[in-house]
Amino acid sequence: MSPPQRSPSPEFSPLAIGEDLSPLPAYKAAGTTATDFAGLLAEPLRLHEDLASGCGGQTWPAGMVLAKHMLRYHRDDMRNSRILELGAGGGLVGLAVAKGCAVENPLYITDQLEMYSLMEHNIGLNGLEGQVKATILNWGEPLPQSIAAFKPDVILAADCVYFEPAFPLLLATLSDLLKLCPSATIYFCFKKRRRADMQFLKKAQKLFRVTEVPDEDRPVFSREGLFLYTFRAA
Ligand SMILES: C[S@@+](CC[C@H](N)C(=O)[O-])C[C@H]1O[C@@H](n2cnc3c(N)ncnc32)[C@H](O)[C@@H]1O
Repeated sequence: MSPPQRSPSPEFSPLAIGEDLSPLPAYKAAGTTATDFAGLLAEPLRLHEDLASGCGGQTWPAGMVLAKHMLRYHRDDMRNSRILELGAGGGLVGLAVAKGCAVENPLYITDQLEMYSLMEHNIGLNGLEGQVKATILNWGEPLPQSIAAFKPDVILAADCVYFEPAFPLLLATLSDLLKLCPSATIYFCFKKRRRADMQFLKKAQKLFRVTEVPDEDRPVFSREGLFLYTFRAA
């Protein structure tokens, strides 16, 4: 079996040339930032960003939108939820939820092996070792035993649509998660960068019940090509 392919950066892939809909962000130097998501967190979330391990080492726009959405609208209704983040990168969304929402179960942030140490580092930076677990979850592969046993019912995915060969893998993992827990809700936020990104949405609409999510920031993020949906079992 060939080794799993590491998805390239959404912005630095040669495939992006000529098809980007928005200006390229600056290639950030490694460093630690702090954000309170426009006042939604009482104490800022600290995040180390380092692109050396892959594109997830930097915070992406859909992550900011999804984190703000969860903090604004789901602060108190996930107390007993079993939360999992896919393609977490440095863990922006999952860590924001762990810090700002009432959550009693452990929360899993997941990504490929290359991102594991950054996820662990950021869990530690925020003192969330007791609440958040970093786990390797490669899309398209069987779910890790710990996740299958956990049966997540809230799944977070931000800026995971950017590399066409990974679309079927991500769709397979989303399907597996909805089979594992048919009542689960997937909060799915992505930025349209290329025409192919809308093909992902069309495929998702065939497989899942896809609903646009109300959000007071929608007029702003829509203008920037960002989409926020829930996916549920059809
Ligand atoms: C653009 S980054 C988004 C990071 C973060 N969610 C955010 O919004 O800031 C996409 C993430 O998906 C992860 N990813 C890409 N392909 C993957 C795969 N086949 N299995 C698991 N994770 C993958 C990457 O490692 C990366 O961290």
